[in-house]
Amino acid sequence: MSRPAAATDSPPAENSSIAIEPGHRLRGEVVVPGDKSISHRSLLFGAIAEGTTTIHGMLAAADPCSTAACLQAMGVTISPLGARDQPVVVEGVGLDGLQEPGDVLNCGNSGTTMRLLLGLLAGCKGRYFVLTGDASLRQRPMGRVSRPLCQAMGARIHGRANGTLAPLGVSGCQLQGGVIGTSVPSAQVKSALLLAGLTASSSVSVIEPNRSRDHSERMLQAFGADVQVSGDYGRHVQLKPGRILRGRTVHVPGDISSAAFWLVGAAVTPGSRLRLPHVGLNPTRTGLLEVLRTMGARLQVENRKHVTGEPVANLLVEHGPLGPFSIGPDLVPRLVDEIPVLAVAALFAEGTSRIHGARELRVKETDRLAVMTRQLRTMGAVVEETADGLVIEGPQTLRGAQLDSETDHRVAMSLALAALNAHGPSHIHGADAAGVSYPGFWQQLRQLQAAGG
Ligand code: S3P
Repeated sequence: MSRPAAATDSPPAENSSIAIEPGHRLRGEVVVPGDKSISHRSLLFGAIAEGTTTIHGMLAAADPCSTAACLQAMGVTISPLGARDQPVVVEGVGLDGLQEPGDVLNCGNSGTTMRLLLGLLAGCKGRYFVLTGDASLRQRPMGRVSRPLCQAMGARIHGRANGTLAPLGVSGCQLQGGVIGTSVPSAQVKSALLLAGLTASSSVSVIEPNRSRDHSERMLQAFGADVQVSGDYGRHVQLKPGRILRGRTVHVPGDISSAAFWLVGAAVTPGSRLRLPHVGLNPTRTGLLEVLRTMGARLQVENRKHVTGEPVANLLVEHGPLGPFSIGPDLVPRLVDEIPVLAVAALFAEGTSRIHGARELRVKETDRLAVMTRQLRTMGAVVEETADGLVIEGPQTLRGAQLDSETDHRVAMSLALAALNAHGPSHIHGADAAGVSYPGFWQQLRQLQAAGG
């Protein structure tokens, strides 16, 4: 693989293109960066806590940097995110301490930043905020957060398309509690409502159709909030206001959604064997491991332990024969970000893999069902796109091609693995998108290939 952009951890130039030569094994150890969801939350909860929060293993990628920049614009002191091996230190301003910013808050590409901030800022009485983002984020549905905040809790949020598309204006006010049923399982929606509940006049209960990732519940409890989880499979979450959050030390585990590229990469690339230490294995995130096991992938989990209330372990994965998988709506929330890379896995498995109940993918950073279908077809793949999923019969022979991330970080990295196993070289345009969640991805890929020979 040759890399025209600078071969450092700094983000490649805008619209950078990466050349990928197939035929290399992936060998060695790869330390994946910190979990993106936990990184956002540790910054946000640290900011509204009393006292200092020290974050080890923070993901220094574009998305958490957006959260940090928004918080800094509201008067929170945060040490630099990218300082190698240095923890990030957040000086909390307390639940009512965020200042009215002098400019719009730019959430960049980050849905988590915008949705969680909407919930948090809605209750900041007497202050006005405007939230915006890049072209992708300004098209993403915010009504799923602004509507329940306004209709059930009395928030004042205004914007385009009846307050459902950014830029959004938030006039902070006294919120009321309530019992809110959500129509899609979404940790971003749930977390926004829980954050709004911190300053509401009574408790807020969120009831999801399926349980989404529970990092907010775990971390809010660890910071001292009164959060109760109940109902079948923990679909009911209640937060009672009135507690003071206290700053603490957070250890961020490796992101299983970033590990996913290597797990699938090694499983489908002949001769590969990888070890991934210290990956977060929160049970609301481990759907990918279950699917890989169903496929017969050679996967081992070692040295399980808990770090700051989150399970972590080392993962070992090797290439081997793979069978097909089937993913339905119950499983989707537990692997929602891994579906693009699983589409690649399906191409190299023997049999027909099916994904359904995954309509949510159409409103991620891009319409991931459409973009993955379009890009994989460029390589000669046969992919059937349905209204809410994909059907892929494998194994297939792919040809190297001119590919495009279409600005989506997870698409860029998923296509890299398809390209590694194609016939002939490929170019991935817009490869810089990977920096949204995984700034060192291209460099690590090159190192693993070099180790594999
Ligand atoms: C996230 C939740 C998921 C996920 C996103 C991060 C979070 O989105 O896709 O990458 O940190 O809460 P939804 O909760 O909207 O499904």
